[in-house]
Amino acid sequence: MIQATLHQLHVFETVARHGSFTRAAEELSITQPTVSTQIKQLTKSIGLPLFEQIGKQLYLTEAGRELLETCQDIFTKLSNFEMTVADLQGKKRGQLRLAVVTTAKYFVPRILGSFCQQYPDVDIALQVTNHQKLVRRMLENQDDLYILSQPPEDLDLVARPFLDNPLVVVASSTHPLTQRQRVSISALQGETFIMREPGSGTRRAVQHLFEREGISVNVRLELGSNEAIKQSVAGGLGISVLSAHCLLPELVIGDLAILEVDRFPIPCRWYAVHLQGKQLSVLARSFLDHLLSESQNIPTVENFVKKHALQLS
Ligand code: PGA
Repeated sequence: MIQATLHQLHVFETVARHGSFTRAAEELSITQPTVSTQIKQLTKSIGLPLFEQIGKQLYLTEAGRELLETCQDIFTKLSNFEMTVADLQGKKRGQLRLAVVTTAKYFVPRILGSFCQQYPDVDIALQVTNHQKLVRRMLENQDDLYILSQPPEDLDLVARPFLDNPLVVVASSTHPLTQRQRVSISALQGETFIMREPGSGTRRAVQHLFEREGISVNVRLELGSNEAIKQSVAGGLGISVLSAHCLLPELVIGDLAILEVDRFPIPCRWYAVHLQGKQLSVLARSFLDHLLSESQNIPTVENFVKKHALQLS
């Protein structure tokens, strides 16, 4: 039986995550020699090297990679156990780790706000990233729950749809196409376009539609941020396709307009997702219930537009 303390495993996991003894020492508020001693003792009891140093870079050995996976399992199980104990005591505490696609950041923090009011002892770690990076996190089991549109069909997932995420064509309010009541999709042919980065789900949905309809746009800019795309569209750099939920403030201010283009909006939905077989923590289950009920109060884009008496073009 390997003689390793939980503390040593914790130090090892932190070094492996950062790829650095110094940063691990900083995170754990201990000295670097203490980190080295803990790793030395752990290596000795395992009997195989856990890291190798090549130049300035620290790499995990095969034993190190296996140990990292084991540590992540142990810590997740322990943290779930702590939450279950707190739950049995009538309290909710612990950490909820969420990862959401960039378009979901426009409503998830508000839902988290009301969740935390209900459970003030809960800590939240929220990662906002694009579709591809989020799927990678899911495969590495890094978080409790994921929110995305277009859940990958080749993975064994539990996916609960909860809110429409229409993707619309957006233009500056001074763009000539805003003069038209209805725009045929062929009018987009050759338009100067601002596209999300490779790996974005929004980009993939747009490319599928354009391919199907034989439309080729002139991509002037690729940007990894919905906010930067909105500013570029408002600045007249081109048109784009974004989640309507990203646009609500700019529609009120009047900087941007949604074009009523045939075949749009692209009908997407957000899903709360996790891998089949994942044991959801007490907190993740509570948050999921909260999300499914609270998301019904998020205004649809149509309601929002009505409330602010906006024209969609
Ligand atoms: P993304 O989001 O474009 O940031 O990847 C896509 C989605 O809504 O799933």
